[in-house]
Amino acid sequence: MLHKSKSHDTNGANNPMTSILNQMTLSRWPVPAKIVVTLFLVMIGTGYLAALANLYQRHELADGQPGMTPDDLRANFHGMTVESEQIDEPAPPMSRMLEQVIPGGDMRKHLTAGDISDVRTLIGWLELGAEMESFQQASLVEEGDPTPEDVIAGRCLRCHNTEDGEKADTPYGPDIFTVDYKMVYKYAEPGTAIETTADASANPGVKQIGPQTLSHLLLVTHIHMLSIPVFTLVLAGFFALGSLPTRWKSIIGPLPMVMIALDFAGWWLARIDESFLVLMLVAAPLFGLTLAVQLFTVLASLWSPKSTRTVIRS
Ligand code: HEC
Repeated sequence: MLHKSKSHDTNGANNPMTSILNQMTLSRWPVPAKIVVTLFLVMIGTGYLAALANLYQRHELADGQPGMTPDDLRANFHGMTVESEQIDEPAPPMSRMLEQVIPGGDMRKHLTAGDISDVRTLIGWLELGAEMESFQQASLVEEGDPTPEDVIAGRCLRCHNTEDGEKADTPYGPDIFTVDYKMVYKYAEPGTAIETTADASANPGVKQIGPQTLSHLLLVTHIHMLSIPVFTLVLAGFFALGSLPTRWKSIIGPLPMVMIALDFAGWWLARIDESFLVLMLVAAPLFGLTLAVQLFTVLASLWSPKSTRTVIRS
């Protein structure tokens, strides 16, 4: 039977569950267990930072501009239209290759997986008409840039080669080492574009970017939703055994899980209405922040000699 006085306790200080948690407090754990938890935390922290760096690298160019801004999120999750830079100076008609590598193109991701100078070079060269004289010329757009040939060899040839490429039917060279200008030019020749030529002539200078395809959103949703909540839950469990006063634990404890749920909701809702982007803009940083607070609190509770006393007081 429950004790009446205790079941009404909202603060939790006298709750039987709380006293069990206090018994199990991290500072009393044996050293080998502390080492395991510490290494777990170090890997979670490092993994999170690596995920941020990866996110930046992959999405920085989503809106066609370097630097991560809300427009990158907008392009990826909701879709947006941008005005192209050369409206007054008509560019040569688009090539099949160009339409595939501009923002929103299917091959864009292979290009942006490399350095920003790769993006600049290939697009610049294609926009200038993909001429043979400049194919092996470095520094076309900016000093130190690679040649267009290098970019195709490094980013595209792996799949687009006759010998063993996944896309051997549209090759840029006979094998993974050799780029052949003539093969490239079949796709790089101005005017060979299929999809965007119609829109481009109807509305010159304006192009639609994103949103990401539904199948890609499903892919990233299942990968992230089945992994992030798991370590968030484990960390929350350790945090509950940490040495902060119960009141603080009950405020900070649920925050990372709430934030990640809001972030995920934003991914899907922003497809319908752009204003839901704000969910991601607010929840994602708060997730990182509260996760960091929990992580460092757990580390401190594990190794700080003072932590036992704090627990007894709360
Ligand atoms: C991982 C393999 C892979 C890489 C790397 C790759 N592609 Fe592709 N590419 C494909 C596949 C598969 C298709 C066909 C399906 C599609 O359109 O998504 C394709 C289609 C194309 C097409 C359309 C061909 C047609 O039939 O009209 C072009 C143009 C193209 N790629 C250019 C590029 C360029 C430029 C790069 C380098 C920046 C590149 N690809 C990198 C796999 C790749």
